[in-house]
Amino acid sequence: MMSETNSSIQSTTGRAAPDFGADVIDGKAFAANLLQRIKQDVADLRATTGEVPGLAVVLVGEDPASAVYVASKRRETLAAGMNSFEHRLSEETTQAELLALIHRLNADPAVHGILVQLPLPGQLNSDAVIDAIDPAKDVDGFHVANAGRLAVGQQALVPCTPLGCVMLLKDRLGNLSGLHAVVVGRSNIVGKPMAQLLLQEDCTVTIAHRHSRDLASITRLADILVVAVGRPEMVKGDWIKPGATVIDVGINRISRHGKTRLVGDVDFAQAGHAKAITPVPGGVGPMTIGCLLENTLEAFRRARAPLLKSMKKVS
Ligand code: GUN
Repeated sequence: MMSETNSSIQSTTGRAAPDFGADVIDGKAFAANLLQRIKQDVADLRATTGEVPGLAVVLVGEDPASAVYVASKRRETLAAGMNSFEHRLSEETTQAELLALIHRLNADPAVHGILVQLPLPGQLNSDAVIDAIDPAKDVDGFHVANAGRLAVGQQALVPCTPLGCVMLLKDRLGNLSGLHAVVVGRSNIVGKPMAQLLLQEDCTVTIAHRHSRDLASITRLADILVVAVGRPEMVKGDWIKPGATVIDVGINRISRHGKTRLVGDVDFAQAGHAKAITPVPGGVGPMTIGCLLENTLEAFRRARAPLLKSMKKVS
C-alpha cells in the first residue's frame, strides 16, 4: 500500500469547494488521538508490568519508498513509548537468511510484533515469509491463520488498513447494523478483510471487483462505500448514492497541470452529495500506523495475559 509520507506531494486535504455538502472525515486528527491513547496505554503497562511492547520491522533491500515507510513506523513506535527493533538486510538476502531472522524474532520474548516490509526483492517468496511469522506476532494480520480466524469470527490480528476504516466508520455512524456496505476491490490486504469486518458489524456486504458488471449500479446501492482498487478517481459522482458514507483507500500519485499530487480512487470533487467522505491524503492513510501500533499493543497484552491477570488479582 502506498504511504502518504512523501513530503514532495502536494496536500489537498480539506480542499473542498464551499458548496461541498459532505463532511470531510479527518483521519489525521483521529489517528493523532489514537496514537495518544496508545501512548497512555503503553505508559500504564510499563508502570504495572515493567515491560513495554516491542515491534520488529524488517526491511530487505534499498527501495526508497519502503525506507521512508519503515522510518516513519520506527518514529511513531518510539513516540508511543514502545521498543523498536529495525532489521535492514541487503538486496541479495536469501530466503534461508530471511527465514532464519524471522525464526529468531519469533523466539525473542522482547518482540511482540513482526512486520516484514513488502514488496520483497524478486528472489524472495513473500507468502512463505508471511507463513513463517508466528501468527501471535503477525501485526500485519497477513498470516493465513489470522485471515481464517477473522473469517470465522475468532480473535485475530486484523490487517491495519481495514481496521482503520472500520474505526472511522464506527466513529462516524455508530451502529453499522443493517447498512448495505459495498467494498470495491478484493485484495487479501484490504478488500477481503474489510468485507469480513463489515459482516461482523452486521452489515449487508457486497464485494465488487474488476470483473463485476455495471459497477456503478452496484456502488449506487451502498450506504457505506469502501473503494480500494488503486485507480485514480475511478468512482464518479453518479456512482455514489446521496447520503452514503465513502471510505477512499486509494492513494494514487498523478501529474496534473505540471504538478505531482495524490488522489484517491474516488473523484472527490464529485462526491459532495455523500454524507461523509475520507479525503486523500489525510483520510485512511494516517490511520495505518496507529492500527499497527494498536495491533502490537494487543499482541503484547495477549502474550502477557497471565501476568496481567495475576496483577489484577493482587491489586
Ligand atoms: N508495504 C506497504 N504497506 C505495507 C503494509 O501495510 N505492511 C507491510 N508488511 N508492507 C507494506
